[in-house]
Amino acid sequence: MAINIKNQIFTLHTKNSTYQMKVDEQNMLIHTYYGNRTDDTDCSYLIRMADRGFSGNIPGTDRERVYSLDFLPQEFPVYGDGDYRVDCLKADLGSGVQDGMFFFDSYQIREGKYNIPGLPAFFSSEKSEGETLEIVLKDAVEEVYVHLLYGVFEELDIITRAAVVENRTEGDIQISRIMSACLDLGMGKYDLIHFYGKHAGERQMERNSLPHGITELRSTRGTSSHQHNPFVILADKDTTESTGECYSASFLYSGGFHAQAEVDQFNQTRLVIGIDDYDFSWKLKKGESFSTPEVCLTYSADGFSKLSQTLHQAIVSNLIRSCWKDRVRPILVNNWEATYFDFNKDNLIAIAKEAAELNLDMLVLDDGWFGKRDDDFSGLGDWFVNKNKLPNGISGLSRKIEEMGLKFGLWVELEMVNKNSDCYRAHPDWLIGAPERFESHSRHQHVLDFSRPEVVDFIYDSISKVIEESSISYIKWDMNRYMSEPFSRGASAADQGKTMHKYILGVYELYTRLTERFPDILFESCASGGARFDPGMLYFAPQTWTSDDTDAAEREKIQYGTSFVYPIVSMGSHVSAVPNHQLHRTTPLSTRANVAYFGTFGYELDLNLLSAKEIEEVKAQVEFMKEHRDLIQVEGDFYRILSPFEGNDTAWMVVSRDKKQAVAGYYERLNKVNASWMRLRFKGLDEDQLYKVKWEDKCLKAYGNELMYAGIPVDRDYCNKTNGDFHSVLYTIEAEG
Ligand code: GLA
Repeated sequence: MAINIKNQIFTLHTKNSTYQMKVDEQNMLIHTYYGNRTDDTDCSYLIRMADRGFSGNIPGTDRERVYSLDFLPQEFPVYGDGDYRVDCLKADLGSGVQDGMFFFDSYQIREGKYNIPGLPAFFSSEKSEGETLEIVLKDAVEEVYVHLLYGVFEELDIITRAAVVENRTEGDIQISRIMSACLDLGMGKYDLIHFYGKHAGERQMERNSLPHGITELRSTRGTSSHQHNPFVILADKDTTESTGECYSASFLYSGGFHAQAEVDQFNQTRLVIGIDDYDFSWKLKKGESFSTPEVCLTYSADGFSKLSQTLHQAIVSNLIRSCWKDRVRPILVNNWEATYFDFNKDNLIAIAKEAAELNLDMLVLDDGWFGKRDDDFSGLGDWFVNKNKLPNGISGLSRKIEEMGLKFGLWVELEMVNKNSDCYRAHPDWLIGAPERFESHSRHQHVLDFSRPEVVDFIYDSISKVIEESSISYIKWDMNRYMSEPFSRGASAADQGKTMHKYILGVYELYTRLTERFPDILFESCASGGARFDPGMLYFAPQTWTSDDTDAAEREKIQYGTSFVYPIVSMGSHVSAVPNHQLHRTTPLSTRANVAYFGTFGYELDLNLLSAKEIEEVKAQVEFMKEHRDLIQVEGDFYRILSPFEGNDTAWMVVSRDKKQAVAGYYERLNKVNASWMRLRFKGLDEDQLYKVKWEDKCLKAYGNELMYAGIPVDRDYCNKTNGDFHSVLYTIEAEG
């Protein structure tokens, strides 16, 4: 059993971790331990009590003044009870009372993993069934209950959490803040590692020692955002890629979020994470409940690579629902950077013809095929084909592409509308924003009010018709603006605080309906590149367009940062033209491919503009990826070797789980005269296995221990006079015998 309960001590075991909490003598649920796997011993001996001066004591505690929530580690701290640290719940429990005091009420263990209606969540699968522990807390006075849900996946090495607030009072209660989970670590000075960014520069890694006070990361943008990923790591000072302790919390939600890490007066660290409380207020009527999104907790005693691999495997096996989750992905060409809006049937077919000759798998038609969409001022909301550009419709084009031996994919942006569209003219009140006030636009577009079921129904019907009539194997679902003026014209004044969350529930509803109706379609999510690269999206769409920045050198950082949480098979990564359209930088074609291989792989350029030499190179790249994509995308574990955030070099590799095969990439940013010697040390190989390593026109035989501990020299300018800036080397490693 992964869940053991004795004397109201709840011990949750995964393969390599133990998580424990206990109902104490005051009937409070306190957190006693999370870390390397231990037995079921009551760890509450770790928690010391002392009279901490002005730390208040809850009613009924002894005369010694030692029992205080001000320092006790808790599972679900609430506002107003004398614990002044960041909390998980603030609610008006009726008649203005906001100070909850939640005591243990009951618990239940269930086989299999709980699910959360309407929200993405890890699920039971053949790989790991999971178990559920539900602990119920009740307010001291009011009939308000909090159900704490714990999903324990022993094999996957993860624990999930979510909370449900239930109103059994006779009146309304009003929640103004609800976090999904709290992690109270009673000891240690931690570094916070997080992934910040911007449009075309997402998931840049940052590591800082946590100061006293509150450090917070949040998105108030209605998307999980380019600026901060809903994922944090707390690590010991000395933790590296392969050694040391670290914890992570990943929030399964695609809207605004709020993560707070507080180091308190006694050097204890508390992490809470949940829906952004800035734009949130939820009235619960008598008998109603509110469920939070889920958080996935992971612990590693062996550094960051282990932590990431645990997350990657869990996401693939027990979060992504699509049948594509463990399949190699089609090598596609996307026409966006090839044509932008300026395409017609003929130039698309010309690109497809070249793609077929190069042995690619799919052509994806990006923005501009619908309504009057010749630029970004109009058309969004009108999901019917623009016959001026495509006289035979999407149905005719998709079939033509299939006759050429390729699959066909299509771009959509279903949550948006331009004012210049039939959709807006028919339904001006479907916009998010209050009437007679400002409706800010961004990229000239507005957000459709997906908190209203009739809007979701309309979009579902219009796009389903296009899909039904055509032969579509892939959909890129984009979302190109942040939310502002969050007001639903379909809701009362009192319910406006629900708009942002209900919007996300509407997005998930549409995803659910479309993915269930068209289960074979491969969905790729996108939000101006990677503004919604989050686990909530991966539940529906097994891959995400990582960034609008397709420059290879920038992509090294973006993909490196992204790999801390998300499997590399989920990262949309394409070779684009040079000079690069975002940075105007020229990088070698080989480097562009060497970066893009570690993802879904594809092209984002006009294949007809390639020179004869480049055509030959692309042919070889496609061949290489077809030969190795099973290893890279399905069979392998990903290891980071050199960080682009620390120097001039990046390196990473994928090793098959049987350790018989590997592919590694090394990337140098700027070339240097008389550069220092460089040795690359591989990871994850079998120490005693003899391997053959091949790169460029070279070959070396060595044992795993040599390759990992001594490494191999990297040829830089002193050996190879032809290398310039942004040079890279791709290594294939195969077991001998
Ligand atoms: C966003 C996407 C791009 C492309 C354009 C089309 O920016 O990230 O890949 O699809 O929209 O408008």
